Amino acid sequence: MGFSLKNPLIAGSSGLTNSVGSIKQLEKQGIAAVVLKSLFEEELVCQIPSDKDSHYPYQKTKDYVAHQSKYSSIEEYIRLIEEAKKSVSIPVIASINCISAYEWTSFSKRIEAAGADALELNIFVMPSDPMMGSSDCEKVYFEVLTEVRRKIKIPIAVKISPYFSGMTKMAMKLSWTGINGLVLFNRFYSPDIDIETIKTVPGKLLSSPDEILNSLRWVALLSDRVLSDIAGSTGAHDAAGVIKYLLAGARAVQLTSTLYKNGFEQIGIILNDLSAWMERHHFETIPEFLGSLSLKKSEDPADYERFQYIKTIGPPDKAE
Ligand SMILES: Cc1cc2nc3c(=O)[nH]c(=O)nc-3n(C[C@H](O)[C@H](O)[C@H](O)COP(=O)(O)O)c2cc1C
Repeated sequence: MGFSLKNPLIAGSSGLTNSVGSIKQLEKQGIAAVVLKSLFEEELVCQIPSDKDSHYPYQKTKDYVAHQSKYSSIEEYIRLIEEAKKSVSIPVIASINCISAYEWTSFSKRIEAAGADALELNIFVMPSDPMMGSSDCEKVYFEVLTEVRRKIKIPIAVKISPYFSGMTKMAMKLSWTGINGLVLFNRFYSPDIDIETIKTVPGKLLSSPDEILNSLRWVALLSDRVLSDIAGSTGAHDAAGVIKYLLAGARAVQLTSTLYKNGFEQIGIILNDLSAWMERHHFETIPEFLGSLSLKKSEDPADYERFQYIKTIGPPDKAE
């Protein structure tokens, strides 16, 4: 991404990064960069005056956001960037959560002008429209990136979902667009069903450490193949999670749920435990082990693909 981070820990986008006070605390506890709480495309399309009809398709979501938005004006988000930049010396990465390349993209220029060090785009096209095949969904990513890249010069990271039918090719193609970072993965806040009220209810908000495995596999599979830096995201709750992501080839690790569950002191604990692990394994610097278990460098690349699966649940051993 073009930053020299003091350590690999980045605070992921969440409510913990939507105030200057909280960002200052994160820096004090040792975090190396922050991704601000996202501004949602819905907030932008609600507030950007447009002489055309809006293309935004989810009217119910848009109406909800128009009522609820904390950033009652886009100006508040801009002020958050400006104030954060004045108050901390770590990189401040703005974030936009979007589903299209429509009206909102011009706003990215204001993010750059406010001083953000980079922009993370959390793009998620829900593949629920029966008229949209995988290539239609993928096209949206390239439209967004083309539009935003045309408008700003600061580094761009894309936070993607794990739901692509051709993940490796898609990630490679995204990296060829000139983006600087890929964040693997966004964790979906999926709805649950309450069987007593017989209604849909919000699902589990925070991740657990075992949720790391899917992102970890893909970091290992992709880190030698994409041109952009990769940040591991989802399920890194402690130093072990961070170390696993680094071994798989991530150049940084985003933390969110663990900061909600364990407080900002967890940053110092992770950094101490990371140092202790490095000492135990005789590593003086992170590059000495970064990516040493990526697909290409792993002694047994088949482990990341079908082998473990077949070994675990496939035909029984001859001895059995
Ligand atoms: C309360 C909460 C708010 C979040 N808000 C955002 C957001 O605004 N934008 C975004 O890209 N991700 C958001 N996320 C997702 C996190 O950035 C992260 O990708 C996800 O929680 C997985 O990482 P973790 O396992 O370390 O929690 C949010 C997560 C939580 C728990």
